[in-house]
Amino acid sequence: MKVVVANDHGAVKEAQRVLEHLKKRNIEFTYIGTDKEESIDYPLQAEKAVVEFRKGGYDFGILLCGTGIGISISANKMEGIRCALPQDKYAAEMTKKHNASNFIAFGGRVEYKESIEEILDAYIDAEFEGGRHQRRIDMMMALSGK
Ligand code: RB5
Repeated sequence: MKVVVANDHGAVKEAQRVLEHLKKRNIEFTYIGTDKEESIDYPLQAEKAVVEFRKGGYDFGILLCGTGIGISISANKMEGIRCALPQDKYAAEMTKKHNASNFIAFGGRVEYKESIEEILDAYIDAEFEGGRHQRRIDMMMALSGK
């Protein structure tokens, strides 16, 4: 499994935790950054991550900003991206099963009831169910540009 990870200054520590967790799980990653506290624009980080993802060989991407909102909206503006911003383990599992999300986002300044690592694990360990969910994904993706 291989993933791409990017964050802005709003989630530097949390991104490092995510990288540590990926190492523990023996998941290969490309880290876009930033590992610095200086302000950086989240749309740029989302774009870099998606451009890297599109090179191929990646299973999914992980994005982090202060809320997870700006960076997930940015990624979702790009063709073919379905970036989820799950509230908890349940939502993380279901977005893989039903939405086949290819990116997952977190907020570094958000208080989650479960750890980011646990939420990430729920996403990683779930599998897309296909069937009627594929039809809805096709409908969702057809909304692009409308
Ligand atoms: C940066 O201050 C902050 O706006 C950003 O990390 C994110 O929360 C935006 O959605």
